Amino acid sequence: MSKRHIEPELHKGQFGHDFMWGVATAAFQIEGAHDADDKGLSIWDVFTSKSGRIKGNHHARTACDFYNSYHIDVALMKRMGIPNFRFSLSWTRIMPSGTGEVSQNGIDYYNRLIDHLLENGIEPWVTLYHWDMPHALDVRGGWTNRESIDWFKDYVEVCTKHFGDRVKNWMVMNEPSVFTGAGYFLGIHAPGRRGLASYLKAVHHVTLSTAEGARIVRANVPDAHLGTTFSCTQIEPYTQHEKDIAAANRVHTLLNRAFVEPILGLGYPDAADLPVIRKMEPYIQPGDIEKMAFDFDFVGIQCYTREIVKSSFLTPYVGAALVKAEKRRVMTTEMGWEVHPPSIYHMIKHFDAYPQIKNILVTENGAAFPDAVVEGKVYDLRRKDYLQSHLRQLLKAKEEGARVNGYFVWSLTDNFEWAEGYHARFGLIYVDFETQQRIVKHSGEWFAEFLQLN
Ligand code: NOJ
Repeated sequence: MSKRHIEPELHKGQFGHDFMWGVATAAFQIEGAHDADDKGLSIWDVFTSKSGRIKGNHHARTACDFYNSYHIDVALMKRMGIPNFRFSLSWTRIMPSGTGEVSQNGIDYYNRLIDHLLENGIEPWVTLYHWDMPHALDVRGGWTNRESIDWFKDYVEVCTKHFGDRVKNWMVMNEPSVFTGAGYFLGIHAPGRRGLASYLKAVHHVTLSTAEGARIVRANVPDAHLGTTFSCTQIEPYTQHEKDIAAANRVHTLLNRAFVEPILGLGYPDAADLPVIRKMEPYIQPGDIEKMAFDFDFVGIQCYTREIVKSSFLTPYVGAALVKAEKRRVMTTEMGWEVHPPSIYHMIKHFDAYPQIKNILVTENGAAFPDAVVEGKVYDLRRKDYLQSHLRQLLKAKEEGARVNGYFVWSLTDNFEWAEGYHARFGLIYVDFETQQRIVKHSGEWFAEFLQLN
């Protein structure tokens, strides 16, 4: 008879008293109110208005209507005992044309939200850039234009001056490898640019902007707890053949090293690990390598899956192809991503191995599964299992001494999942997008209990 392995219960106390718990969101994915007051267009407003870009031609004009009904979600967070709320600021709500004029309406809205969070005992965690570049600046090249560094600095100046008195937790960028890769190389995310030159320029300017933006936060909010976030994925070779191992190393270098290392003062990885890095040289000016370095208080990591990679001549620049999870007959989420909890353990260990990193926070982790509402309830066992198994792996790394001290679930509510539209539901709270009604899912009830029982 086979014995079913039963995992011991998780307790909040195992993670330590100063461990930070929260949920994460982003402006474009939840706010809606796309044309409220004088808000300007972002690249995502434009991208989602074009037919065929987003599954089902979904758009985020209303999304979760968080702009108008944030008090409902804040009340739910309070009831669930969630102490930290991560959200991003919409650049074009604050500066409609990206530079110059500041919208008082935008400032007022974020002031109302920040004050309301604090009144309810919830700590605001602000991401400055979660993918919604102003369209007016994209017309001038967006991140491919070196002037983007100055545009971004002006925007950070405005945000920190207005909100820095109350917001103490700041993150500069969200997942630069994803928004540059999908938006400037593959063209499957806004602004839909393609090609190596556009990608490499964007990568370099975003990396410089991360450090330059951080310097402004530090100057304007001296007591800020300051970080920036990176996506990361455990990469494994398909076979033990030398070619596949080398391909896996190139992908690992691109996804897990190329964005964080310049920030840590290590410069871009060596071309021996990723030959295409050489093509970056024309865009690097004297002094840039030093300027890219910044001493963050924490690094946010966001890990959802692992990837298996094999050598491929068909893929330009990296010479590697992903072996899709569906072909490997493994358990996947609605995104087609393999459920593989040890990946988060390996990624925490990978980041922990950099002595320059002071503290690691998991600023996003979660899963999309097709949820069904049955008699007014959503019994999402798979999401609960996913969260628990990832937390166990985090705890394992922590018990081995890794400096990991926070965990934010992606996401508070179901929301607009970029190219997937509303098909992929990641929330602890179910949203009926017709009526805007909310239902706390079984996973959300579990998380609330977990946070409050200990
Ligand atoms: C990464 C991104 O930061 C977030 O916007 C996205 O919705 C989740 N991961 C899930 O894909």
